[in-house]
Amino acid sequence: MSRAGGTPEERWTEVDEYIAGRLIGPDPEQDAGIAASDRAGLPSIQVSAPLGKMLYLLASMLGARRILEIGTLGGYSGTWLARALPADGRLITCELDQKHADVARANFERAGVRKVTEVRVGPAAETLPKLVAEGQGPFDMVFIDADKPGYPVYLEWALKLSRKGTVIVFDNMVRRGAIADATSEDASVVATRRTYDLIAKETRLTATGIQTVGTKGYDGFVLALVQDGPKES
Ligand SMILES: C[S@@+](CC[C@H](N)C(=O)[O-])C[C@H]1O[C@@H](n2cnc3c(N)ncnc32)[C@H](O)[C@@H]1O
Repeated sequence: MSRAGGTPEERWTEVDEYIAGRLIGPDPEQDAGIAASDRAGLPSIQVSAPLGKMLYLLASMLGARRILEIGTLGGYSGTWLARALPADGRLITCELDQKHADVARANFERAGVRKVTEVRVGPAAETLPKLVAEGQGPFDMVFIDADKPGYPVYLEWALKLSRKGTVIVFDNMVRRGAIADATSEDASVVATRRTYDLIAKETRLTATGIQTVGTKGYDGFVLALVQDGPKES
């Protein structure tokens, strides 16, 4: 250990930095993207570097050609996902905030992934039905990382945009352990627990949840696999 003592949060950050140093290495494009996001006043709520790399690895393992993201921010996770795509692949990423979308587009350009990325601006609950109407699916992978109260609806639309074999990743699904509190009245916790219920009863999905600690504190993600195609409505 390079540092004795310290809080658990400091230790988690130190370990994230160690992992990034050993297994990820310098990433000047993403560093510049985060600096540009900071300058534009975006909140620093992007995934950690190790989680971003995990998204890249998952997309690579899947041989993903079409990826859907809900919650773009400045394009940090989007850049990781887009890096896994072939030259004719596509990442469609949905963002509510026009400023976030503008920063993300510039960051995608800087990272050399602009040609395979498309930012759709507006409430995702409106964008997703449009994607279905346009026949944009099925996607090989979906990453859900936006407003938590929206997750139940995003799950519903993600399933409509999926096929057998699609992988869906839901971020922020542990919330410092608060999800285990059935009495919580926090809107994000209630919506997250509802999302677990929906995943649990959805026969097309098999899933697990993984708790994480790191630079972003104590949280976790749910990883789900779509087993069958969309139901006839
Ligand atoms: C946690 S950040 C996304 C971080 C990003 N995935 C990353 O790791 O780089 C959540 C984003 O979702 C956006 N958002 C919030 N509500 C939304 C909605 N209803 N529809 C689409 N995006 C929304 C926010 O503006 C914010 O940029």
